[in-house]
Amino acid sequence: CGIVGYVGKSQAAPILLDGLSKLEYRGYDSAGVAVYSDDHIEVVKTKGRLKVLSDMLDGGKNLPGTVGIGHTRWATHGEPSDVNSHPHMSGDGRFAVVHNGIIENYLVLKNRLIEKGFHFVSETDTEVIAHLVEYYYKGDIMDTMRSLLNAMEGSYALGIIRADKPDEIVAVRKDSPLIVGLSDEGNFIASDIPALLNYTRDIYHLDEKEIVILRQDGVSIYNMDGEPVNKKVFHVDWDVSAAEKGGYEHFMIKEIMEQPKALADTLKPRIQDGRVVLDDIKLTAEDLKDIHKIDIVACGSAYHTGVVGKYVIEELTRKPVEVDLASEFRYRSPILDQHTLVIIISQSGETADTLAALRYAKTQGARTLSIVNVVGSSIANQSDDVLYTWAGPEIAVATTKAYSCQLGVLYLLALYIGDLLGTIPADVYRDYVAELLILPDKIQSILEHKEDIQYFASRNFGAKDVFFIGRNVDYALTLEGSLKLKEISYIHSEAYAAGELKHGTISLIEDGTLVVAVATLDRLFDKTMSNVKEVKARGAYVLGLTTENNRKIEQSCDFVFYIPETLDLLLPSLAVIPLQIFSYYMALMKGCDIDKPRNLAKSVTVE
Ligand code: G6P
Repeated sequence: CGIVGYVGKSQAAPILLDGLSKLEYRGYDSAGVAVYSDDHIEVVKTKGRLKVLSDMLDGGKNLPGTVGIGHTRWATHGEPSDVNSHPHMSGDGRFAVVHNGIIENYLVLKNRLIEKGFHFVSETDTEVIAHLVEYYYKGDIMDTMRSLLNAMEGSYALGIIRADKPDEIVAVRKDSPLIVGLSDEGNFIASDIPALLNYTRDIYHLDEKEIVILRQDGVSIYNMDGEPVNKKVFHVDWDVSAAEKGGYEHFMIKEIMEQPKALADTLKPRIQDGRVVLDDIKLTAEDLKDIHKIDIVACGSAYHTGVVGKYVIEELTRKPVEVDLASEFRYRSPILDQHTLVIIISQSGETADTLAALRYAKTQGARTLSIVNVVGSSIANQSDDVLYTWAGPEIAVATTKAYSCQLGVLYLLALYIGDLLGTIPADVYRDYVAELLILPDKIQSILEHKEDIQYFASRNFGAKDVFFIGRNVDYALTLEGSLKLKEISYIHSEAYAAGELKHGTISLIEDGTLVVAVATLDRLFDKTMSNVKEVKARGAYVLGLTTENNRKIEQSCDFVFYIPETLDLLLPSLAVIPLQIFSYYMALMKGCDIDKPRNLAKSVTVE
């Protein structure tokens, strides 16, 4: 869900609608705006797409005011509905509030307010905030905000407008993203940069619980003690097109095609004179010798890079690696202490479960290092060390370039650690570094053959079920291939370690069932082919994915896609590309809403 706020010289509503449209990728089920117009706060909100809201407002034209806040909601407390949509008003109509996050103690607060005579119209936790603001407000907004922040437990990014000071927006955040945009024409708040790029490139990143007052001619930021805070302006140097589709039909295919550049941006600055140089982290050889175990923790596709990372890091560093889903990690009492390095992986840096896992790891004394795409995000800010993936903004809900860059950083990290610990022979190290540098070009060569996969998809998009099989890193990769396919095409799919098929899943194979066999590792090629024969014998139709020298795969599979050769551990970086393209074209042929699959959000900031 997303927040946009504007106070300035222009009419607010069209700017709010435009900003919200740039945040659509975050996933939402309803939308609304509040604008101070004709001496009162006017709220217009609705369940459904932004287009519905925009039509209700005639594109924003029929709300004349120049101060307002807007919101797209992804339901948590209370179903998607008009009344549960934001903004929410205080009972006296003086305050309107938009909120991202979850107020954990909202029921206690709500009951207290009901006892005091407040009347609630929605089921949301946000309405509690609107009433609380009214309750605490005695003429000083800073006092009000302090009381509010002390009362609320949970996560929030808030934008508030008020009828008795209609030239201001008040904003604050805790554990939920919010930025401030600055311009001569007016000032902004937003959940993310793309919402503002049409208006400004100068932003402030907010720290936790900083209270912001925005007016047309300036922005003041205070800490909880009411002392002014000085901020450095951050200039966004992405081009506008970097946050927009740039000629492609979908953000997803645009981002797939951007991978050579994204990966090169991530890898090349960190490889100097044949060595991996990670200036950005503080981990020393001494620290690493003291580390007995590595835990990788993440959600979704980021978790899948972690599964590949386990194979890579264990092989190159000989340190034991565990991989956990963030939502499981902190509830299973993992064994953590100062001898554990916890690697947190997150594109957004805001995923609630992942952030909670990071904090848990810190309370247990573990050393933490995060791999994050969004600069200044909560996970980046709160880890001992951060390695950024330089993928640029990723808009499609289904990740592609961030996945590739996360893998790239894991390779760098494994080489870096292995080098410091002396676990990688010099010639092997040299080969890896050399290969890493040419991975982007090899990805480019795969992208140039995307039509082969498109052709295959055009013949197979009617599949009901797809089974992905592979061994070792190929298996780790199939987890991602399968997720990618199901999340955007809604085709049921599963990933299985090829050798595990015979323990149950093979009973699901029948005449015509589509199987994708990933067999890029020479040393396991024959083993995987024997599994291909097992499924073929039961009627499966098999797409094989292997490297260029394994032509004998054509004896076993019905259709084959080849990728270039590289070192074994690096193969997932190449093999993931055709799997992404496959998912994209399967979903395209089915006419799915590719960039915004149903029920999914890009950044899941609730547990
Ligand atoms: C959501 C997205 C996934 C992503 C996951 C973790 O579920 O749809 O694509 O992998 O969150 O997100 P993160 O920002 O932490 O990488």
